[in-house]
Amino acid sequence: MPTWLLSLDRFFPIRYLTWIACAVVMLIGAFTQVVAHTGGVWALLGLIGVIVGLRDVRQRRHSILRNYPVIGHLRFLFEFIRPEMRQYFIEGDNEAAPFSRQQRSLVYQRAKGDPDKRPLGTQLDVQAEGYEWINHSLQPTRIASHDFRVTIGADCAQPYSASIFNISAMSFGALSGAAIRALNGGALRGNFAHDTGEGSISVHHRAQGGDLIWEVASGYFGCRNPDGTFNAELFTQHATEPQVKMIEIKLSQGAKPGHGGVLPGPKVTREIADARGVQIGVDCISPASHSAFSTPIEMLQFIAKLRELSGGKPVGFKFCVGHPWEWFGIAKAMLETGLLPDFIVVDGGEGGTGAAPLEFTDHVGAPLQEGLLLVHNTLVGLNLRDKIRIGCAGKVVSAFDIARMMALGANWCNSARGFMFALGCIQSQSCHTDHCPTGVATQDPQRQKALVVPSKIERVHNYHLHTLEALKELVQAAGLQHPNQITANHVVRRVAGDKVKLLANHLEFIAPGTLMAAARGECDWPHNVYKIYWPIARADSFAPGPATVCAEGLKVPLPTIGEPDAVDLAL
Ligand SMILES: Cc1cc2nc3c(=O)[nH]c(=O)nc-3n(C[C@H](O)[C@H](O)[C@H](O)COP(=O)(O)O)c2cc1C
Ligand code: SF4
Repeated sequence: MPTWLLSLDRFFPIRYLTWIACAVVMLIGAFTQVVAHTGGVWALLGLIGVIVGLRDVRQRRHSILRNYPVIGHLRFLFEFIRPEMRQYFIEGDNEAAPFSRQQRSLVYQRAKGDPDKRPLGTQLDVQAEGYEWINHSLQPTRIASHDFRVTIGADCAQPYSASIFNISAMSFGALSGAAIRALNGGALRGNFAHDTGEGSISVHHRAQGGDLIWEVASGYFGCRNPDGTFNAELFTQHATEPQVKMIEIKLSQGAKPGHGGVLPGPKVTREIADARGVQIGVDCISPASHSAFSTPIEMLQFIAKLRELSGGKPVGFKFCVGHPWEWFGIAKAMLETGLLPDFIVVDGGEGGTGAAPLEFTDHVGAPLQEGLLLVHNTLVGLNLRDKIRIGCAGKVVSAFDIARMMALGANWCNSARGFMFALGCIQSQSCHTDHCPTGVATQDPQRQKALVVPSKIERVHNYHLHTLEALKELVQAAGLQHPNQITANHVVRRVAGDKVKLLANHLEFIAPGTLMAAARGECDWPHNVYKIYWPIARADSFAPGPATVCAEGLKVPLPTIGEPDAVDLAL
């Protein structure tokens, strides 16, 4: 600031200029109104500015307003519209925040049925580290249909033939009723599945009749007693509805694993309360853990019980990988009891949510690639892989994303935010404020009117259809018949400079049965993660056992987590 301005500021705080300008406008307006009968509006506007300024300097909440009366409000305005401004004018096409403009545009185009082809070649830097491509064949195939399916729960009384691309869990409550109707209508038209999310089955889910995966989380919404515990009778009532095709027990969610959730009382409307079986207007709490089981064995027994109560529908669980010994404990319980889930959905730490603390979204839970590989490899190593289907979610929006996840071991993919974009979400990231500009994530009836259900049903259907058509073209180009034939041998990654590697060589994949053999002492452990954590994992507790094997193979007491000298607990 020039010195003359600094000197002026000492006698006359220039940050009050706008406020003073308001007073001047008010006085001139009043004067001209009296003298020439014009200018009254200016006088009124000036007066409003003066009153706002007075209120600003007297209030105690915002220091910026106390120091910068009137003009300080611009900061809040700019902050409010910053995400949109950033998106429209600043953000690069490939900058992810969390989804890049390219990714969103692809979904918007496919959802609208607009041409999704690009002229003049890739915008990606193919020399950059991490760039990946699929090796194509000189003998491309011809595939009749894009409708790729996977059978889940083949041994169940009511197995489900699922699409390999479905709508990931998002509750009515996090999303508006209109959004749920549009998603479910799209699922019906495209013959794919719609996960209810933990908020259970609402009138909006039932309105269209699309296939549902009913998610049962720690709050047991839709199947709970007044004290929040599991109610088998209510569960049976809903699980046996023909629209419900599978049951998914939610253990954790990638965006906030280990963190419960609260839907604040004012948001608990009659419709939400009815769907969840809770009281209207009272805080609706999802505890951080389940009360129906507390050990891996009990969890598998619960799965078996739900399968029976549902009349033999596939039952599985969704989780984000955390402590490896907990997952291994579940795997050990499968071996010990012979009780298997029909499917496991792995959610990546990069997953989305309606609301979560930043520390959780940014730093808790294994990302999808690592979580998926651990689950897939463990089941392969135990010779259980062909008995359990694996689904996954975590920033899967394009056909390449699906192909890549299938190469890493997934049988199908779910998308939450991809389908939100299909509904018109502009990534303004204000889902938690109830001020969603597109009517997707709000309970405000006025704002929901922005979302016209029939046209969004079309978009949800289109997005699914055109994504799978693109996947079909990828599979054909690779010379294959089904996306489940895509393996880590088909995907290549630039790992550094001129060095490229097949994902099959770059990532760890273990051979069938090797984990069983290593546990019996017949071969080396396929990876340190198994060497260190498999021995301490327990089928009868999620807590680790009392001893472990260190890198040198010695028996050592298990260190307390957080102890500075703990053995390497990294994956
Ligand atoms: C608005 C919103 C609400 C969600 N609600 C749930 C939920 O109720 N249960 C759940 O298991 N996951 C929930 N999720 C997580 C998604 O189902 C999904 O696992 C995660 O967002 C990763 O997929 P994506 O990257 O395609 O969004 C929610 C995600 C979003 C964005
Ligand atoms: S438009 Fe914004 S508030 Fe609405 S769902 Fe999308 S990110 Fe959430």
